[in-house]
Amino acid sequence: MKILAILGMILLFNSCNDQTAEVQRLQSQVDSLRSQLDSTYKPGFGEFMSEIQVHHEKLWFAGINQNWKLADFEINEIKESLGGIKSYCTDRPESKYLGMIDPPMDSLAAAIQTKDLPKFKAGFTVLTQTCNSCHQEVNHGFNVIQIPETPPFTDQVFKISH
Ligand code: HEC
Repeated sequence: MKILAILGMILLFNSCNDQTAEVQRLQSQVDSLRSQLDSTYKPGFGEFMSEIQVHHEKLWFAGINQNWKLADFEINEIKESLGGIKSYCTDRPESKYLGMIDPPMDSLAAAIQTKDLPKFKAGFTVLTQTCNSCHQEVNHGFNVIQIPETPPFTDQVFKISH
């Protein structure tokens, strides 16, 4: 009887030890994953903005050349970058102003869908004003966006003959 009790205690002791070891192993895995996550590269707000800048420029030349498929592509690229800010820049207080860009983006997208050049030009102007409204709102008023004057790249053809 005594031997059984002792055996039981030994088993219990060992299983507690096993459990502690397992918890420690899992904890160290969690710690290592956490530190990997912390050092994972995340694009910053400014990087998304630089992407948006390029697509904003291209969008203008696509639109005024009535290359509507390219215009549609470019506006979706802007949407993707805005989505990137929403996903990756939640720690930035400026992100809360992003919503102001949705209405001008929607009406510009509608102009592209209906291939309406005057509506495209007007919509692009409002979009550009909204870029600046946000920059002013978030103390980046020194960063002024305008309708581009020349195409950003010479190796891309904006006007396509149909
Ligand atoms: C939610 C507010 C907001 C909106 C809307 C917005 N921006 Fe920005 N933009 C910022 C902030 C904040 C920065 C500074 C980012 C940083 O910390 O690097 C910035 C920076 C920039 C920069 C500077 C990037 C650089 O490194 O030189 C450009 C260019 C830019 N934005 C273009 C645009 C364009 C074009 C639009 C409209 C299509 C736009 N932004 C709309 C908030 C906004």
